[in-house]
Amino acid sequence: MQTKIHYPLLENAFDKKDIELGVKVIKSKQLTMSNITRNFEKKFSKYLGVKYAVMVNSGSSANLLSIFVAKYSHKLKIGDEVIIPTVCWSTSLWPIIQAGLKPVFVDVNLTDYNASIEEIKLRINKKTKAILLVHVLGTSLKIDKLLKIIRGKNILVIEDTCESLGSKYKKKYLGTYGNFGTFSFYYSHQITSGEGGMIVTNNKKDYELLKIMRAHGWDRDLEKNRIKTKKFNFINMGFNLRPLEVSAAIAQNQLKRLKKFSKLRNQNREKIILKLKQHKNWKNQYKFVVPEKHLEPSWFGLPFLLKEKFVKKKNLIIKNLNKFGIETRPIISGNFLNQKASKIYNLNKKKEKFPNAEYIEKAGFFIGLHTKKLKNKELEILTNHLLNF
Ligand SMILES: Cc1ncc(COP(=O)(O)O)c(C=O)c1O
Repeated sequence: MQTKIHYPLLENAFDKKDIELGVKVIKSKQLTMSNITRNFEKKFSKYLGVKYAVMVNSGSSANLLSIFVAKYSHKLKIGDEVIIPTVCWSTSLWPIIQAGLKPVFVDVNLTDYNASIEEIKLRINKKTKAILLVHVLGTSLKIDKLLKIIRGKNILVIEDTCESLGSKYKKKYLGTYGNFGTFSFYYSHQITSGEGGMIVTNNKKDYELLKIMRAHGWDRDLEKNRIKTKKFNFINMGFNLRPLEVSAAIAQNQLKRLKKFSKLRNQNREKIILKLKQHKNWKNQYKFVVPEKHLEPSWFGLPFLLKEKFVKKKNLIIKNLNKFGIETRPIISGNFLNQKASKIYNLNKKKEKFPNAEYIEKAGFFIGLHTKKLKNKELEILTNHLLNF
């Protein structure tokens, strides 16, 4: 029981070719966004089966840009409401506030930690202009059901798919159902370029605005509609969220291995769960995610919820896991309304309760799933530590 193991969130993130391609870009001295990024955007959109993809420097930037483009292009006004689950990442939420829109929080369900459709239904009113979904750790709500509910209501859907690249719902990739799908290539996600992100859309107007706002509000990246008589045309407001060519080169090469990564992670997940359930100490201490029936998840972590009577032991369990070399993370950030930042901006004025998000914060955590086969010995040590309480 005292054996140490090296079990980080992600191992061997980059292969030899990733590094070679990155170095080649640096040697070429073309560091700023150029042809490799454009090529990767084309490949990415083709891979997911959408018309357009725009690369940015992070998943957070992808969310920021989507919200601002949604606001401008779809004429949202200050104070318009955007529904968002309480179990979200900080930069799923802040762009809504930064754009002057109003976040309206909904609770999540305990089976897969995604927003509850029933709760969303209750919160929809005339001021609802968008729903920001967070696909938690490779999973999703019944997105077709949600789209049916909002049909004809003029409500935009932004899918924060930063944790779920490669997951499919009813054979269609997550991130491709809504008006915008955002992705992250941060370290430990399904594929990584260290930092990096992507936005996909099927709307040409939104696509062009994404490119304009990504780069200073400039028209330079437009193929057509560019003002050709003048060189420095700023045709809207903007940021600088451009990625580096190095990130595009690495992520492009990693995308080729996404299916292989998913398969290995899935196998490792099944092995860990089986081993836990066969363990002599197994007393149903953990509840595992139950993905939607039509979902083919692409995992990068294995989340757990401790059963009620073991919740008190969570800190002890995590301390013990970390001590023996097993890295852990909370389920996104728990109930985001409990975070200090939410208090500063008084985001829960009515002191509403979100019991499931609360439970996930209290009882949940996850460990990584690696892209190489787990050895029996590793499996044994890992499960011993997970059940050593
Ligand atoms: C759901 C979600 N959205 C957005 C982000 C932000 O992505 P990035 O770290 O690439 O900025 C994360 C980060 O982990 C995330 O989990």
